Parts: sequence; C-alpha cells; structure tokens
Amino acid sequence: MPAELRIENLCKTFTKGREVVNAVRDVNLTVAEGELVTFLGPSGCGKTTILRMVAGFETPSGGTIHVGDEDITTLPVHSRGIGFVFQNYALFPHMSIFENVAYGLKARGEAEDAIGRGVAEALELVGLAGVERRFPNQLSGGEQQRVALARVLVLRPKLLLMDEPLSNLDAKLRLHMRTEIRRIQQHLGITCLYVTHDQKEALTMSDRIMVLSKGHVEQIGTPFELYAEPQTLFVADFIGQANVLPATIGEPAGGMAVTRLGPATLSLRCIAGSGTPAAGPASVVLRPENIRPVAAGEGKLPARVLHRFFVGDHMDYELTIDDMKLPKPLFASVPYEPGLALFEPGNTVGLDFAEKAAIVLFQTPGG
Ligand SMILES: Nc1ncnc2c1ncn2[C@@H]1O[C@H](COP(=O)(O)OP(=O)(O)OP(=O)(O)O)[C@@H](O)[C@H]1O
Ligand SMILES: [Mg+2]
Repeated sequence: MPAELRIENLCKTFTKGREVVNAVRDVNLTVAEGELVTFLGPSGCGKTTILRMVAGFETPSGGTIHVGDEDITTLPVHSRGIGFVFQNYALFPHMSIFENVAYGLKARGEAEDAIGRGVAEALELVGLAGVERRFPNQLSGGEQQRVALARVLVLRPKLLLMDEPLSNLDAKLRLHMRTEIRRIQQHLGITCLYVTHDQKEALTMSDRIMVLSKGHVEQIGTPFELYAEPQTLFVADFIGQANVLPATIGEPAGGMAVTRLGPATLSLRCIAGSGTPAAGPASVVLRPENIRPVAAGEGKLPARVLHRFFVGDHMDYELTIDDMKLPKPLFASVPYEPGLALFEPGNTVGLDFAEKAAIVLFQTPGG
C-alpha cells in the first residue's frame, strides 16, 4: 500500500578526520500518498544522503522519518518496505531476467506460483513481458533499467526511491524512460522520491520539486511555482535561466513595490522569499523569454547589444546596460517570426519587458 512520507528536522553530519561536513541541514518535507517529489540541486548538496537515510543505509544525526504513522528513523533496511533504484542498477549477470525479478520474492519465502504471477505482472507493467528467459547482457540499457524497476516493484514497496536512475542512458532513451517511469508511478499510485541533476527531467516528471543547496532546502513547490515564483536567486538561476538586475525599492505594500531600476521607476510585484521585505537594495529577476531588445529610446531601459545568436526558432541576444553593475550580461531569447527586427552587436537599443514578468527578490547577488 502506498503511504505518506514525513521527514522532520532531518540532519546528517559526516566527520572525515578533522573535517566536519554538514551534508543535510534541518530538512522538512511531507510527501503525500501517490505523490512524486524530486530532489534537485548541484553535486554534493545532500540528495543521495537524504535518500539513504530514508532507505535506512545511513543513520540521521538528528530528526525523524515517518512512513504513515510509523516512525522508521532507526528501523533496519529490510523492515522498512521501501524500494530503491540506483544509478547503476547492477542486475545479477548470471541469472535470467525471471530469476533477477523473482529474487526478492524468493528471499521472502513466497510460494512458487505467487512468484510466477508476481514476476509476470511486474514485467508486464514495465513493458517487458516475454523476456523472462533472457539474460541481462541480451537486453539494451533501457530494458535493463526497466528490469531493475520491475525487481523493486514486484515487492510492492510502500515507497519508491530512485537516485539518478536514468543517468547511464543516452539522451533519447532518457526522454522515453522518464515518461515511462512517470506512467508506472501514477498507474500504481506509489509514493516516490526521485533524484536528478537534470532540471528538464525534474520539471516534466514531478508533482513537486525540492531544490537543495549545501544541505538545506531552498524551496519546495510545483514545477510551475518554482519557475514563476522563485523565492531565492539560487532557485531563480537553477530552475531555468535568470537575468538579475540590481534595484532599489521603496516601502513594499500589498505585494507590490516602487522599484528603481537604473533610470526607470516601475511598480513591480515582490516575492518575500527568504529575504525580508523592506525598502533598500534588492534584485529584479527577468526570464530570457520575457525581455527583448527594441529600438533605441523605446522600452523600459537603455541597453547595448553585445552578441547575437540565431538558433532557428529563436534569436538570442546578449545585452548590457551601461551605468548598471550587472552580475553577468543579460540574455534575451526572442521567438522567430517573419519580419523580426534585427539589432547588431554594438547597437544602442531599448530593453523592453512587461512589468508583470519582473520579480523582485529581497536579496542581492552574493548577499
Ligand atoms: N560517507 C560519507 N563520508 C563523508 N562525507 C560524505 C559521505 N557521504 C557523503 N558525504 C558528503 O556529504 C555531502 C553530500 O553528499 P551527497 O552524496 O548526498 O550529495 P549529492 O547531492 O547526492 O551529490 P551528487 O549530485 O554528486 O550525487 C558531500 O559533501 C559529500 O562529500
Ligand atoms: Mg548523489
């Protein structure tokens, strides 16, 4: 039976000689029955460590883990009823596919006919009915990964954990497998934690995403929320691309604030996020698809073209604003349409965007 997972104040500290690594800091997360939550974040941010604590391979330094009403924080791995699919799914090479998938059921001492039915069902579910007698080296990488999934699903786990399960597959197969995994997860209604480096994979597969940085949670939300309302500059830049402009804002009121952006004064919506909403220095975030160069003297700000790249369906521009200290050049991505106005590198232009596309964060780069 699928179950709710509740992680409270979870911490993990590793000690390597004199070095102390706070790999996981005070993580709180509730995953609803049947929900798929993805952990996304740079290498070393603690994704695998959290998964290993939920599975029982690692003991937390603090905090608790509940599955349904049961506190599993210190239960041994085999009593948790949790399935785990790793990056290298290492099937047993000397066993047939049937034997690979049957392995866990046999270890549980199930009857032969129940094993036969379970294996057939699991292989059917992952779209591999009929390969029972083959050996792992007679299957493609994607098929082997499906067998690895069947091997776990056959045990009817309460919770499914997957750590970068697709990273050994080529790009096209990854695309296919991510929809397959999502289909199977939704079909079974199984509660799932999924780890990936790949933001597209996270955006397309997840009910919600937890963005991590250096062991702490930056933000938890639906893919759409994270993109539309990032609460920190880190999230804004990690999910999609973000243009960050330094700004000075007046007293915020009703979620809006008068914002001085270079020579322009605009009324923009604010996201409190992790910063404190207050008058003073802040940042304005704009997505590349929401800004575009226009004729000099028009638009909201004066800008200058640095580079132009035609990528077929888009014209991409790198722009700068003289007199404004930008953390990096601005990136504008303008969809192609017949008769699109072109601007040359070196041209002085205007920079235009809709006020509703701008997001004020009470944070400054590096601050
Ligand atoms: N057994 C261990 N002993 C000491 N330090 C460890 C151990 N396991 C992990 N760490 C450290 O804890 C931090 C988090 O590691 P973790 O493997 O959870 O990162 P990750 O987010 O899964 O990264 P990646 O995306 O590269 O897989 C890292 O700084 C890592 O070096
Ligand atoms: Mg990892």
